[in-house]
Amino acid sequence: MKTKGWLIYEEEHAKKNKAFIDWFLDEAKELHIKLDFILQDRISFGVQNNELVILLDEAPLIETPDFVIMRNIDPLFNEQLERMKIPCFNSHHVSAICNDKAKTHQYLAGKGIPMLDTYFTTADELLTGNLPLPFPFVIKTRTGRGGGDVFMVENTEQLEAIHDQLSNRFIILQPLARSLGKDLRVYVLGEEIVGAVLRSNQKSFKANYTLGGQAETYVLNEAELTVVNKIIQQFEFGLVGIDFLFDEDGSLLFNEIEDVVGCRTLCLTSDINIVKRYLEFILQKLATGEKSI
Ligand SMILES: Nc1ncnc2c1ncn2[C@@H]1O[C@H](COP(=O)(O)OP(=O)(O)O)[C@@H](O)[C@H]1O
Ligand SMILES: [Mg+2]
Repeated sequence: MKTKGWLIYEEEHAKKNKAFIDWFLDEAKELHIKLDFILQDRISFGVQNNELVILLDEAPLIETPDFVIMRNIDPLFNEQLERMKIPCFNSHHVSAICNDKAKTHQYLAGKGIPMLDTYFTTADELLTGNLPLPFPFVIKTRTGRGGGDVFMVENTEQLEAIHDQLSNRFIILQPLARSLGKDLRVYVLGEEIVGAVLRSNQKSFKANYTLGGQAETYVLNEAELTVVNKIIQQFEFGLVGIDFLFDEDGSLLFNEIEDVVGCRTLCLTSDINIVKRYLEFILQKLATGEKSI
């Protein structure tokens, strides 16, 4: 019997990633996987008659998928799948931690992974005068992506403006890393490092590629491999991007982990078939029953 999987996206994200989705569907065919592309808004889930339930187009599932590739951020749904014994990539644990910058820093602290001091607060707290670090510093919302919710603050006027913009959002505060406009993304599949991309932007302190940055391939040295592997050991990853800033001596400072990682820069800088490798990885996990639920 063919392995059956779901590839789940939210509508806006799916429009922007049509080529990537088609790539998944093509590679799945090659690997004899029946992969269905499903928009999250066709799905309802919860409890019915005291049992966990997933509805597709308002009807209970006749057949559950053998696995789900979750390319939408909704850790509660990842958890529902896992509780219903449907392996989900990435796992609920990865999704719940990594889509929250405060939780990620909290989880990885004390594990020998260099990172900036990071304070967890709310935008409203900013104006109480209780600031745990001096200007200049960086404010980010806990759940922001793509650099849109990341701000550098140099004085009280800027702080007030950002407070107004963020109203009562949950945020983190960090000092400024020395290497502005430059960061490193390391692509990881399971326990394996598949590639690394140095991203830079001359015009902004934010190196996000989607904000108009540059990307080039990067080879990790021994010390960098050690740091990345320490992070890998703390999770059971499917496919993620682990992002780093650089300290003044050029060493890595952990920044964040992308659960629903975009692969554009990896594709631009290498000929790695990341989609094929991801599907093969999933098949292997299912075959060995290794995927812990
Ligand atoms: N503390 C910091 N110091 C200097 N630059 C930073 C700092 N935090 C983030 N940046 C820059 O801003 C970019 C976006 O921040 P990031 O934490 O990755 O948020 P997002 O999830 O929106 O990508 C990073 O890629 C990096 O270039
Ligand atoms: Mg980022």
